[in-house]
Amino acid sequence: MLRIEGLHTYYGPGHILHGVDLHIPEAKIAAVLGRNGVGKTTTVRSIMGLAPPRAGHVWLANQDIAGWPPHLIARAGVAYVPEGRLIFPDLTVVENIRVAERTAARQWTLERLFQLFPALGERARNRGSELSGGEQQMLAVARALATDPKVMLLDEPSQGLAPLVVRELANVIGRLRDEGVTILLVEQNLKLAEAVADHVFVMVKGRTVYKAPLKTFQAEQNEVKARYLTL
Ligand SMILES: Nc1ncnc2c1ncn2[C@@H]1O[C@H](COP(=O)(O)OP(=O)(O)OP(=O)(O)O)[C@@H](O)[C@H]1O
Ligand SMILES: [Mg+2]
Repeated sequence: MLRIEGLHTYYGPGHILHGVDLHIPEAKIAAVLGRNGVGKTTTVRSIMGLAPPRAGHVWLANQDIAGWPPHLIARAGVAYVPEGRLIFPDLTVVENIRVAERTAARQWTLERLFQLFPALGERARNRGSELSGGEQQMLAVARALATDPKVMLLDEPSQGLAPLVVRELANVIGRLRDEGVTILLVEQNLKLAEAVADHVFVMVKGRTVYKAPLKTFQAEQNEVKARYLTL
């Protein structure tokens, strides 16, 4: 469903991505791991068109969306939940979701979103700023779902959340996969990554240096951690 090949991205003169390769089959979850600053966020921003790659391919099904403007990439079926969530603090829960909706006939109606996130339904009229960190994260995911995405890019959704809330988030992410959403999950939280991922990728200095199915990663994890993940 999503295949990234040889992605090169620059910020000004800074060459940040040096050939990132990732592949996520339809309705699967890939976790992208890596130390701070290796280019995980730049990778998702490149896929989304916010940091357009200078070389490489981003195959969404049979279409190469590399270099497309972000709104067309969104329309093609990619949704992005950025690091730090970025919900609107002064809008209510419902308003935050409504700004993302495009058409009337939708897979993820408000009703279905509130079934998936009952806590948000209870707080539908509360402002974003009145939500807990976990509720804000759920709202950011709900808002992304309101665009009916085929692919969802989640950048460190567990950041700052209590373990119990991270478990809830894992349940939600797993349910989205069961609903057919293909998910790229950037995570520092290995527990969350292991709880949901089908495939694991590790990045070092703007490159993909390791990829394996979850089972293989778990068998090799001490070695992989020592080599690529611990400081
Ligand atoms: N807007 C920007 N302008 C210039 N350089 C940037 C910009 N954003 C990120 N960088 C640089 O690009 C590199 C990769 O950053 P990126 O945010 O992609 O890393 P990351 O893997 O997401 O890190 P973290 O785990 O801390 O979120 C870093 O060296 C960073 O300083
Ligand atoms: Mg990041």
